[in-house]
Amino acid sequence: MIRFENVGLRYDMGPEVLRDLTFEIRRQSFQFLTGPSGAGKTSLLRMLFLALRPTRGLITVLGRDVATLSRKDLPSIRRRIGVVFQDFRLLDHMTTYENVALPLRVRGKEEREYRQDVVDLIKWVGLGERLNALPIVLSGGEKQRAAIARALIDQPDVLLADEPTGNVDAPLARRLLRLFLELNRSGTAVVIATHDLGLMEQVDARRLVLADGRLEIYD
Ligand SMILES: Nc1ncnc2c1ncn2[C@@H]1O[C@H](COP(=O)(O)OP(=O)(O)OP(=O)(O)O)[C@@H](O)[C@H]1O
Ligand SMILES: [Mg+2]
Repeated sequence: MIRFENVGLRYDMGPEVLRDLTFEIRRQSFQFLTGPSGAGKTSLLRMLFLALRPTRGLITVLGRDVATLSRKDLPSIRRRIGVVFQDFRLLDHMTTYENVALPLRVRGKEEREYRQDVVDLIKWVGLGERLNALPIVLSGGEKQRAAIARALIDQPDVLLADEPTGNVDAPLARRLLRLFLELNRSGTAVVIATHDLGLMEQVDARRLVLADGRLEIYD
């Protein structure tokens, strides 16, 4: 579904932070992306969802060479990719419901078509009681779950989550992991960037490990 071939990335005139990355994210697969702080996990995720172009190499997403995509092709491909950001990026003036519904609203869908789906998904992540709360009153873990729901509302083919358990305690981390596994069983590919060893030890999943700019894969 997403393929990297000899991809390299540098910021401005700096050194290459990622080098010679060759790997594939297959349909319906589940994997962790790990490595120490500063190893390039977030940078790699940003290339995966087309927010950042590589400085060299080839990235193909859903069969399309990313370098040849025009601006107008981007939204339809991006829609297939759900992202949970390390810092959530919820809109402060919108409730949980409105934040989660936003991707559909932006796409011009009518509220009566999606209202129930949004409510059901918010309940699925355990935020049924926080439907009308603004982000400012949500705890870190609640914001995390709101961000997860927003990433999933448009039924992406792949979910990319950047440190999705970075702000929660161990029991909630396990619950979120179960949520991701359930999502994966229903057919969504999942990539979880984390340095939480305890989390990774709970499932026997593929690991993409970044160190010194290179990637090692443990299937
Ligand atoms: N916008 C940017 N401009 C310049 N350098 C950057 C930029 N973003 C990241 N970097 C550098 O690229 C390297 C990888 O950063 P990145 O944020 O991808 O790491 P990470 O693995 O996600 O770290 P963390 O675990 O702390 O989130 C770091 O050396 C960082 O300083
Ligand atoms: Mg990061």
